[in-house]
Amino acid sequence: MEDVLPISEIADASDAGAIKKAAHIIRSGGLVAFPTETVYGLGADAGNPRAVARLFEVKARPRMDPVIVHVADIETAKRYGKFPESANRLMKKFWPGPLTLIVEKKPSVPEIVTAGLETVAIRIPNHPAALALITAARCGIAAPSANPFGYVSPTEAQHVAEQLGDAIDMILDGGSCIIGVESTILSMVSSIPCILRAGGTAVEELESILGKLDVSIGSLQRPNSPGQLKRHYATKTRMEIVEEGFERIAPGERVGLLSMIPPLNPEKYAAVEVLSASGNLREAAANLFRALRHLDALPLDRIIARPVGEEGMGLAIMDRLRRCSTRE
Ligand code: TXA
Ligand code: MG
Repeated sequence: MEDVLPISEIADASDAGAIKKAAHIIRSGGLVAFPTETVYGLGADAGNPRAVARLFEVKARPRMDPVIVHVADIETAKRYGKFPESANRLMKKFWPGPLTLIVEKKPSVPEIVTAGLETVAIRIPNHPAALALITAARCGIAAPSANPFGYVSPTEAQHVAEQLGDAIDMILDGGSCIIGVESTILSMVSSIPCILRAGGTAVEELESILGKLDVSIGSLQRPNSPGQLKRHYATKTRMEIVEEGFERIAPGERVGLLSMIPPLNPEKYAAVEVLSASGNLREAAANLFRALRHLDALPLDRIIARPVGEEGMGLAIMDRLRRCSTRE
């Protein structure tokens, strides 16, 4: 698309006219940020290699990192990938929803989408504006999270506007994302399905259907899901994960605290973000990235995050905190 606007338009995602316009932009090879239940995605026509190439440029994302194809129904999903029998139950139960399946790709998927892999990542997002956009565009939409590569994912339209607003064509504002962490990625190409990224669908829920799964989250020798890169979802300010009562704060040091529940001594910290006063892990996940962005916008020397239990959404939360706190 040649007539790229200098600052992208932010439009109400519940407005039918805005969806129509966004769909037109996608079909013309442009880039539209749109809400999903997990995080905001930055979408391009999955069948248009030039448009997808622009996605990579805008995000400064390495070309070796494949993107997810978003579709609105199972039939369309099957045009992009070859789904094994065992995937049928998952698609019926978890789609639309925060589960991405990796399957063997069909020849029609451009190489740039899958970074040359023989597999493709596909999901149906559970958000009315995302589904309306995909349906109106009449194509699969390739969409990574709408943030510069390696930074915290956006859970509000404003997050996208601040970082990518002048480089993309339109932002659909659908309010805050309900899940707040990215989809769970499950590879269906090995004989035992394998979790590549913890996310919005709990591993326990998947195992209740498929039995014990392999887990290869952040296996770091040779990432085959670059979301497995060690340092990712990272704040500019250094972050550490420290249990309550084990931290040392130097005199004058400005520390921001990210905690599930209110701390015992709030006066020790320059800023405090509470993720869920009632200790609910789903609520905590929904607040996580916004809280990290708040803290990262302040003049702090350090951010301290309290660990959470690794059941349910806790696994995805701890995964994001670990990656954010990794220095290399
Ligand atoms: O919730 C989500 O999944 C969000 C929303 C926008 O849908 N999207 C998202 O996209 O998180 P992104 O690009 O930030 O993360 C997608 C991850 C990357 O780590 C990528 O390496 C992995 O999916 N991936 C994509 N295709 C793959 C493939 N064929 N094999 C293994 N991993 C793949
Ligand atoms: Mg991402």
